[in-house]
Amino acid sequence: MPGPNGSWHNSSPNLDDANEEDMTGIFGWTLVVEVPKEAVDIFDQGFSPIAVATSSFETSDPSIWRMEAFSVDRPDEMAVVGAVALAAKIAGIPEPTVHTSALPDIDWVSENQKSFQPIIAGDFFVHPTHYDGVVPATATSLAIDAGPAFGTGSHGSTKGCLLALDWLSRCPPVGNILDLGCGSGILALAMARRWRRKVLAADIDPDSVATTRGNAVLNNASHLVRSVQSNGVKSGAVKRNGPYGLIVANVLARPIIDMAQDIKGALRPGGTLILAGFTENQENSVRAAYQRRDYHLARKEGSDGWTTFVLTRFGGKR
Ligand SMILES: C[S@@+](CC[C@H](N)C(=O)[O-])C[C@H]1O[C@@H](n2cnc3c(N)ncnc32)[C@H](O)[C@@H]1O
Repeated sequence: MPGPNGSWHNSSPNLDDANEEDMTGIFGWTLVVEVPKEAVDIFDQGFSPIAVATSSFETSDPSIWRMEAFSVDRPDEMAVVGAVALAAKIAGIPEPTVHTSALPDIDWVSENQKSFQPIIAGDFFVHPTHYDGVVPATATSLAIDAGPAFGTGSHGSTKGCLLALDWLSRCPPVGNILDLGCGSGILALAMARRWRRKVLAADIDPDSVATTRGNAVLNNASHLVRSVQSNGVKSGAVKRNGPYGLIVANVLARPIIDMAQDIKGALRPGGTLILAGFTENQENSVRAAYQRRDYHLARKEGSDGWTTFVLTRFGGKR
């Protein structure tokens, strides 16, 4: 067992080396592995007897995912080594190194909130509700707390969309507006508050739909933002509200490519489409899927390795 922070390799089990470090003040343990995307579910199952919770995230290389497992008790090294060896065998990959760290016993909720500082993207100013500092007088401010839905503004894909919306503010699009994959509702609120326009916010995830509704109330925009559950643009509510003059879709590369035809059907000719949720090395595939469908790339934003496209759909049929 390593000390409060360390790595485990199958080749060097050293349970007996467990030192007698003072473990008071330790809240729990995290185990981290990086594995190919296809192996994430297998490792998730492998860690389930050891961990009380797991989560996985795409890294800057979309084929490699980072898996984090949380354990309240100090995990048994042999159990971890065995679980990793078995998962690697099933997945047909070399055994990854397991990085462990002890989490100090602190108030994670308030620490997390403290670490969530205001975010500035163009003239958008996103802050947590407990923020009591100065808000720039000309800014469009949004109060968003970290929660179950994605979208505090700190992620490069969200920031890229906010910058794109800020740029678009010079000449806001006409027609109805759709925020597809609304998460916390941050982008729907940004548009509603900046332009005083109605926005339909849609997400496949019911928690995100509810969070958006709550954030709309918190930001005095419930008369402007309506949130609905929808897989892409397929729900009746999304269809009935179309066609759209502006669609913002910060989802992920694969669904964005898969939805290209449906999105084109929902956007009116001459309409504007903001796409995000893909990394620099996924840009070409996203661009190809949309340019093939008669879009012009009007602007590109980049933030922390994530790309945002502003596309204009050509008017009429070719
Ligand atoms: C990267 S988050 C973006 C959240 C927020 N719009 C932002 O910019 O921070 C992507 C969101 O898309 C949603 N999503 C994923 N697939 C979807 C689909 N097929 N239809 C609708 N929403 C989807 C997820 O549930 C998630 O809330």
